[in-house]
Amino acid sequence: MIDQATIARIRDAIDIVQVIGDFVPLKRQGSDYVACCPFHQEKTPSFHVSPSRQYFNCFGCHEKGNAITFLMKHEQMTYTEALKWLGDKYGIEVKESVERPEDLEKRNHREALQIINEYAGNVFTNTLFNTEEGKAVGLSYFHERQFTDSTIKEFALGYSLREKDSFYRAAVAAGYKKELLLELGLVVQKQDGKYAGEIVDKFNERVIFPIRSVNGKIVAFGGRILSKEKSPVKYMNSPESEIYQKKRVLYGLYEAKSTISQQKNCYLVEGYTDVISMHQAGICNVVASCGTALTEEQVLLLKRFTQKITIIYDGDNAGINAALKGINMFLQKGMNVKVVLIPDGDDPDSFARKHNKQELEEFLASAEEDFINYQHRTLKQRVKDDPYQEGVMINEIALSVSMIEDTGIRSAYVNNAADLLGITRDEFQEKVMSLRTERKNSNNGYISGQRGFSTTPANYKKAVAPPKDKDEKSAEELKRCEQDLLYFLLKFGRETLHNLQNAQWGRERVYEPTVAEYIRAALAVDSLEISDPVLKRIYDDYFEHVTQAESATEVERYFVSSMDTEISNAAIQIISSTYRFRSEKIESSVEGVNKRLSAVLPRTVYVYKSKVINTQLEKLKQQLYSLDASQEAEIKALTEKIQQLTIIKSKLLREAKFAR
Ligand code: CTP
Ligand code: MN
Repeated sequence: MIDQATIARIRDAIDIVQVIGDFVPLKRQGSDYVACCPFHQEKTPSFHVSPSRQYFNCFGCHEKGNAITFLMKHEQMTYTEALKWLGDKYGIEVKESVERPEDLEKRNHREALQIINEYAGNVFTNTLFNTEEGKAVGLSYFHERQFTDSTIKEFALGYSLREKDSFYRAAVAAGYKKELLLELGLVVQKQDGKYAGEIVDKFNERVIFPIRSVNGKIVAFGGRILSKEKSPVKYMNSPESEIYQKKRVLYGLYEAKSTISQQKNCYLVEGYTDVISMHQAGICNVVASCGTALTEEQVLLLKRFTQKITIIYDGDNAGINAALKGINMFLQKGMNVKVVLIPDGDDPDSFARKHNKQELEEFLASAEEDFINYQHRTLKQRVKDDPYQEGVMINEIALSVSMIEDTGIRSAYVNNAADLLGITRDEFQEKVMSLRTERKNSNNGYISGQRGFSTTPANYKKAVAPPKDKDEKSAEELKRCEQDLLYFLLKFGRETLHNLQNAQWGRERVYEPTVAEYIRAALAVDSLEISDPVLKRIYDDYFEHVTQAESATEVERYFVSSMDTEISNAAIQIISSTYRFRSEKIESSVEGVNKRLSAVLPRTVYVYKSKVINTQLEKLKQQLYSLDASQEAEIKALTEKIQQLTIIKSKLLREAKFAR
């Protein structure tokens, strides 16, 4: 927790050109600075940094943000890390608020565990390179697997000696506490057998794969046995601890993250060796789930770096099932999912060792398959002539498609899948929507059996069975309208509107408000509030803090450099030159900006207001639909409200015509 005063001081100190200039060579061009975009690959610069507005914007990949979000995106810093980094840069002392004693204790404990793991990692790499046994057994094993020394060093691979407690004795001699070593699972107390009661090394006579957190700290170890006779367990892994939660870690992510953001794609494989061999072959955006199904936390972690994930799997069934399980989770989190099948007999590890970088790149690009095709292809093998299995296949694919939240993308997939399956698009769409409704209702604890009703008195009966989905869609559309309003507010708030004749202020009167005044009055007269919470904060903040004296650039800058990244992201989206205002371009017009504003803004307000009404109508119809036929009084009340709104809607339409 960093206190508000410090945040404000950092905010005032930031110069985005200096910050980005630390990572990207910027060249002056007009009032902007430009460079080749660090977020995608390009030869001619389309990455612009604006010193006056304090934001960056790439015309190629549309990545945009302020200095803080740049650090978060480019350096994968957290918000707090970015603030600390900036504090450091500008010589501002970043004080964190005082910790409670129990938190401090916990943190000290975690730090102690972390230090021990770093120590253990060093012991294992040292043993690998600098002891006779390490070289003869561990290093030669890695060399046999064709890992080069530089690969071994990059992944900090190691070796743990044969002697049963050599690590334990060294660690204790170095001053590390037995309890902490046990807690990390680096040593274990034997329950039975020859050494019952004694404390021995967990990983002895194994090669070591350190598992790093996204920030590069060693949080756990995997140890591989070298010969099958010694133990049936091929890999042993550290147990969970206060610094290691399996579900939050992806093997290789630390080494892969910058390439993942740059390539805007991440390959997902099964194991340690798959990651390492692909890396060595030059494909660096690879992570492993370590043999288990992906967790939600891992998906969200990946999403910090990329929207696209390509699951690489090999012919064996375990791989296929793990990948299949992952797909729905990825889709649900809004990711773009592709799959690649490694041809016969190979796994990513062996395949990568047989090919060079160019061959691998070509293969990966050409073998990439969309998840729909993949599911269809694999599930079809079960169908043959069995209609039941065919139903199962359709359901599975519909379930995956139903996971996609974005309506546009989802409907593209509906069409695609229906065509593949040879059923009509409407039929498939219906299936997808009913799965979504089912899921939503079960989330709401709503019993779906109760829904149907057949004998309502209202004329609205036909109109009142909107799919649930309409709700989200109209909320999205409303948000778009609200963005449009804010677009006028932020960019043209102080401009005067001329010669306005609006019924709101009476026909005879010529009213000349500023854009900001006009918008504010238009909302106030109908007691409307901005519905999107982030946009509402911008709106409220505008009227609270922005004064008439401030220029448009200052206003933009105020919101863009907000220390609240939700606010700055929303503001940047609105004011960036790639913002698509729905009806027309204001600035490029030949007529004066103000004259255009006077024509366009009232129309925009009208579109917004009718959206508000439509959204409310939608909601009421939804409510009406969920009533039971016996609830006559409620039905009557809702029906009346709907009628009232419909009247207001037509009145608004008349006024809008009049306003033009
Ligand atoms: N794994 C594990 N414990 C096991 C077996 C597997 O943790 N007993 C995890 C490891 O992360 C391993 C991954 O699952 O890397 C995939 O297992 P597998 O394909 O058996 O191992 P490989 O990575 O192929 O290892 P190798 O090539 O050395 O056999
Ligand atoms: Mn293998």
